[in-house]
Amino acid sequence: MSLSLSADQPAAPADAEDGVWLECIACGETFAPFADVRYTCDECDGLLEVRYDDLPTFEDFAAAADPDQGVWRYADTLPLPAGVSIQEGATPLYEVPGLEADLELEALRIKHEGMNPTGSFKDRGMTVGVAVAKELGVDRLACASTGNTSAALAAYGSRGGMETLVLLPAGKVAAGKVAQASLHGARILEVDGNFDACLDIVQELAGQGEAYLLNSLNPFRLEGQKTIGLEILEGFLADYDTVPDRIVLPVGNAGNTSALYKAFRELVQAGALETDEVPKLVGVQAEGAAPMVEAIENGADEVRRWDDVETRATAIRIGNPVNAPKALPGIRETGGTAISVTDEEITEAQRDLAGEGIGVEPASAASVAGLRKLRAEGIVTEDERVACLTTGHLLKDPDAAAAAGREPEPVPADTAGVLEHL
Ligand code: F0G
Repeated sequence: MSLSLSADQPAAPADAEDGVWLECIACGETFAPFADVRYTCDECDGLLEVRYDDLPTFEDFAAAADPDQGVWRYADTLPLPAGVSIQEGATPLYEVPGLEADLELEALRIKHEGMNPTGSFKDRGMTVGVAVAKELGVDRLACASTGNTSAALAAYGSRGGMETLVLLPAGKVAAGKVAQASLHGARILEVDGNFDACLDIVQELAGQGEAYLLNSLNPFRLEGQKTIGLEILEGFLADYDTVPDRIVLPVGNAGNTSALYKAFRELVQAGALETDEVPKLVGVQAEGAAPMVEAIENGADEVRRWDDVETRATAIRIGNPVNAPKALPGIRETGGTAISVTDEEITEAQRDLAGEGIGVEPASAASVAGLRKLRAEGIVTEDERVACLTTGHLLKDPDAAAAAGREPEPVPADTAGVLEHL
């Protein structure tokens, strides 16, 4: 099976270009990477993955370039040598001594993807995806989005000189994200429906050749997101001389879960990581939008689409995770799990992180909320070294931050009055 951790390095098919090709994860059909626009398999509509005939090791990354270069430091594991870049990646791997002690863990680090140019991990995918769009010669880009993808697409699309179209669920996208998409020049279409409905529409538009799709269904975008996993592993190797036991991350469409798993599989194939060293992947969803958790708990091979989804963590208000066929094996093969948390637990975790000086949006805090729950249940043990992924910046959703924080206190306009109030 191509998505197994022990899969062998495949030989390049005749349609590979410079050792790069696309392969269907369901039927194994292969395609040239940049000859035509395609998002899924022509034969069976299965999900596609980018494949390489030569996979790099940590030594190759170290030799390639300076560590501040971000995503493109890992060009050896990306489909193009350079991208449409705004200096994405190389995000902080924060120490959180208070939270680490509170959760009684050997080590806890926060990989804060909110520190990317547009404030979320989506930039890592877009720097690659928009470059591929240029390679393909398309002029209009589109995505459905709970907000962050639209912000990143708008920024990278305008940087790349292309028109951008974003479909958003009306009234369900945090203010900061709409503002970004708007200022970076996207045409914003507000759909009277949820994210999954937006994705259905944009997939049809893309299928009719109206625009190039840059949701995480696009296999090239996930290549950029692999670098989150590579940076975490390199950070842990530098600080603890070992990779983390576990990586906990919020799940919406399960793109990151798929991308991290692919990064680890490729390191195993390159001989840079042993199968039993691969970090356990733990996906966290909000209780009101938890189809992946349901599938993991039921041992199901497919995810049931949830038509009604609701959560304060609007970024992961998703009922039909399109990357499930890639992500379910990732969670299972690494010995990980999936868990859901309540909106209250998410807000509490947002406050925990804020107490360490780290500002994240609600969806991001789901990772820490999930870790707390698994620690309480004894599934995560005190000898573990854990990385939590926080996916978006606090300022993305100022309303949620204000609601979770302290109320402003009105005071008179003189020092005596302020002192008296204090
Ligand atoms: N966290 C944040 C802040 C997100 O914006 C998203 C996805 C996720 C987590 C989930 O990541 O899909 O890889 O499992 N946001 C998409 C968007 C859907 O449109 O911005 P995933």
